[in-house]
Amino acid sequence: MIYYRIEKEKKGFRLCEPKRNPDYNRKTESVFAQCNGYLGVRASFETKQLDESRGTFVGGFYHRAGNHEVTELVNCPDVTEFRIRVNGEPVHLDSGKLTLYERSLRTRTGELVSQVGFLNGICIKTRRFSSMDNKKLFCHQLSITVKNGGILELSTGINGQMTNSGVSHFDRMEARVFEKFRMPCSDGQETGTPFYLECGCDDGQTLKIMSLCCRDQHEVKEWDGKKQTMGLPGKKAAFHLERRSIYEDVKTELLPGQTWTLCKYTLYDTDGLELEEMAAILKEAEAAGYGELYRRHQEVFDGYWDMAAIEIEGAAEEEAGVMEFAQYHLAGMVPWDRSSYSVGAKGLTGEGYKGHVFWDTEIFIMPFFTLMFPEVSRNLLLYRYHRLEGARQKAEEYGYSGAMYPWESAVAGGEETPLWAAIDIHTGTAAKVWSGIKEHHVTADIIYALLNYYELTGDKTFMEQYGYQMILETAVFWSSRAVWNEEKGQLEIRDVIGPDEYTEHVDNNAYTNYLAHENVKAARKILASWNGELARQYRRDGWEKAFDHFLNHLYLPKPGPDHIIPQDDTFLGKPKLPDIEKYRTAHERQTILKDYSRSQVIGMQVLKQADVVMLLELLPGRFDHQTVKNNVTFYEALTLHDSSLSYCAHAEADAVIGEPDMAVDFFEKAMEIDLDKGYKDSAAGIHAASLGGIINCVLKGFAGIRVNDGHLECCPHLPKKWKSIRFSVMDHGQRKRVAITKDSEGGTEVRMEETGE
Ligand code: BGC
Repeated sequence: MIYYRIEKEKKGFRLCEPKRNPDYNRKTESVFAQCNGYLGVRASFETKQLDESRGTFVGGFYHRAGNHEVTELVNCPDVTEFRIRVNGEPVHLDSGKLTLYERSLRTRTGELVSQVGFLNGICIKTRRFSSMDNKKLFCHQLSITVKNGGILELSTGINGQMTNSGVSHFDRMEARVFEKFRMPCSDGQETGTPFYLECGCDDGQTLKIMSLCCRDQHEVKEWDGKKQTMGLPGKKAAFHLERRSIYEDVKTELLPGQTWTLCKYTLYDTDGLELEEMAAILKEAEAAGYGELYRRHQEVFDGYWDMAAIEIEGAAEEEAGVMEFAQYHLAGMVPWDRSSYSVGAKGLTGEGYKGHVFWDTEIFIMPFFTLMFPEVSRNLLLYRYHRLEGARQKAEEYGYSGAMYPWESAVAGGEETPLWAAIDIHTGTAAKVWSGIKEHHVTADIIYALLNYYELTGDKTFMEQYGYQMILETAVFWSSRAVWNEEKGQLEIRDVIGPDEYTEHVDNNAYTNYLAHENVKAARKILASWNGELARQYRRDGWEKAFDHFLNHLYLPKPGPDHIIPQDDTFLGKPKLPDIEKYRTAHERQTILKDYSRSQVIGMQVLKQADVVMLLELLPGRFDHQTVKNNVTFYEALTLHDSSLSYCAHAEADAVIGEPDMAVDFFEKAMEIDLDKGYKDSAAGIHAASLGGIINCVLKGFAGIRVNDGHLECCPHLPKKWKSIRFSVMDHGQRKRVAITKDSEGGTEVRMEETGE
């Protein structure tokens, strides 16, 4: 069940916290985060709470704090906290008696709007967003009203004491205030004074943060029927430093019922902006005001929705709201205008998975962008291209040739997977994480996404400059990875982990073998057709022969008489987990690991997540309908869905096999991944892949959109209640409108029309 109330707005939806419940603080901080693809700010309340996990993340800003640490996305200095006292008494949600508590996230813009009233007559309203118009800019507005008036003391600043769960990443911090950038405003009042924190890491990286607090010169608000001028009338700025932090302090008298409003604009920069440039941007923001800045932000976001909106006749309001929520976060997690970083498993909303990039990006998140915003997919692919060297080194380290991409990636391109994870219940020691060593399918996944991008865009220039090299070098890796089985006269890929991480050290994982085959097949095609200087420089003698050998001899697990494709060589011979339903129906994930050790789990027929089902989904034409159907049903019954990537995959698979009722069931579960009542879920960040998977299920599952030989086609299986679905796609640079409508006889009519855009 979805925890948040979903309300329809004039445009889009609003997700609302149903009531104040501090247990949900951390979850809501992730779910309601303000993200624009460069900046991600968790939705912690303005005043500090007992249980909170404040966090701000900047795309691509990773650091490794020591030899025994892994590289992680840095939790950057915070600007969202306000320390407030009225008549000397601190204002806190935890201790104050509340008469009003409303917090909501607007799906169309990601604006967080809060309103909190206290029994003692204090009311605080806030709004905030990470600007899509200037992605380095975070805008925050706070209004406070005190019914009986009083002395207000407020401090807000740039707090560099933030850590990643206790680990500090900065070894240098310098705070400054810039009186020289202060100017009188047109009405003679004083304007804000920029203040600044420069944070340096030991690897030479610098993060610059500049804030400016000001009154809003434009807004005149009504309060109790009286017009009130907002702002900090006649205030003189005062600042103080704390260790690694700088604060602006305000003290003012509030008249009874007067609303006092402060705007705080902050720039986060990792590109080396000059201080003058930063101050000028903030001064311009001050002159424009929150309302105008929001209008500009919304205008850019409107452009996104113009393309991204999916209109469904017959969808429940909640369903439509969650889809928009997913699309809001998708927009907020990707690099729109740079290729220096990719998408972490939690986007920019939390510390979970250390901000690392997994196959989640290429297989779950990219399909939506390739269909609607191929320029983003291009950035994501370039991120991988620029990390080919890391992939070459990883291959070499393990004794292979070519390029093997890391399972978890950050900046440098090397393997970032931590070596140790949760405690094994039997040994009492941390269990070794084998994914970074054995989960090799990510290499083929990247190439799968690349081929998909090419099929839909026809971007030959990209392929010539970058794509062909990626395909060829990864194919070289697969050729070196396969070993000859003398007895069977076939090539095999041994000792891997497939997508299902409840099996380890298996031979011939079907998913891995088939996708590796696709990877090498594409490479072979390139060799036959790629000409020109770069091609001549690049190709090596022996590749053709090696690729042909691989393609002709790689063992591809075939369906048995019951149509079941063996997940790997040993899976079907393992014992079943006797009490599987207990774990399938548990409210928490991964409860099996509380009863069984990891080595016991990997010895049984039990899946963490979709595996063969993913293969069927990615290569739709490869298997006949009966095979697809039998495998989807067979493997689902053995799957615990202990990964957030699983429900969306099963939803899509059921839609494709024409079982929309079952698909809807899984679709609903996927929609709950970040939004259900489990308050621990999503505390460390939203589940980026699942959000992508929800949209995949709608577009590739229910609407049945596929690329076949470079052509888009639709084979829809709409849920019973849906009457029609409309959306746009980009096909070879042309925008097309797709309209799928059910007719009165239960059939569907598909129209795909060029829009001329
Ligand atoms: C899943 C992986 C996934 C990772 C990051 C793991 O629990 O098993 O498939 O890539 O989470 O989302």
